[in-house]
Amino acid sequence: MQEPHERIVVSVGGSLIVPDGIDTDFLKRLKDLVLKKVQRGYSFTIICGGGRTARNYQNAAEAVTPLSRQDLDWLGIHSTRLNAQLLRNIFAGYAYPVVIHNPTIDIETEDPVTIAAGWQPGWSTDYVAVQIAKNLGAHRLANLSDIDYVYTADPKTSPDARKVERASWPEFRKLIPESWDPGLSSPFDPVAAKEAEALNLEVAIMNGAHLEDFGNYIDGKSFMGTVIS
Ligand code: UTP
Repeated sequence: MQEPHERIVVSVGGSLIVPDGIDTDFLKRLKDLVLKKVQRGYSFTIICGGGRTARNYQNAAEAVTPLSRQDLDWLGIHSTRLNAQLLRNIFAGYAYPVVIHNPTIDIETEDPVTIAAGWQPGWSTDYVAVQIAKNLGAHRLANLSDIDYVYTADPKTSPDARKVERASWPEFRKLIPESWDPGLSSPFDPVAAKEAEALNLEVAIMNGAHLEDFGNYIDGKSFMGTVIS
C-alpha cells in the first residue's frame, strides 16, 4: 500500500486541553490516534490553544491591576506555550524537540510530530495554524474544538440554527464576524479565515471530544463536522 506522506496541520482548542483542569483522558486519546496515523505515514503539526489556563491568568492579572490588551495577550500566549510543552512531552520520541513559536520560520525535520503555540499579541492560535499551513504548503487543516459543526446561528440562542456540513470560504465568512477579538466566540478566527481563503486551504471544524471523527477526516471518510474549502 502506498504510504500517505501528508503533513496535516491541527489546531487543538485550548478548551480541549484545559477545559477546567488538564484533560488527561483527551490527551491519551489524541496521542493514540496521532501515533496510529503516524504509523500509516502521516505527519502532524499541532498548534495548542490556551484554554482555561489563559483565562485564569488573564482574569487573575486583571483582578489585581489594569492591564493593556497586549499584556493580556502575552499571558494567553504563554498559556498556549505551556500547553504546547505538555504536548511536546506527551509525544516525546516522535516530536521535534523544540516548540515552534514563529510560524513563518521553515522547520526542516523528519520528526512526524511538530508542536507549535501562540506567537505574538493580536493573533490567535487559529491564525498561527493557517500561517504554518502556508509555510508548509499543507492542504488540510483540522480545527478541533468543542463544537460538532459550524451552525447558521448560535444554536444556544437560536432554535432555527442549522448545522453546516460544507461551505465555501465566502459562505463561511458570511456566518462569522469580520474582525477578531480575543475571547470572541467564532468557530474559526475571521482573520485566519481570510488568509485560509486566499491560500485555498481546506479547513475542517470538528469536535475533539469525538476523536474518531478526526480519524475519519484524515482517512477521507465521512465524519461529523464542517468542511470549508
Ligand atoms: P487561543 O487562540 O489559544 O484561544 O489563544 P483558545 O484558548 O484556543 O480558545 P478556544 O479554545 O478556541 O476557545 C488564547 C489567548 O492567547 C492570546 C490571545 O489573548 C488569546 O485569547 N494569543 C494567542 C495571542 O495574543 N497571540 C497568539 O498568537 C496566540
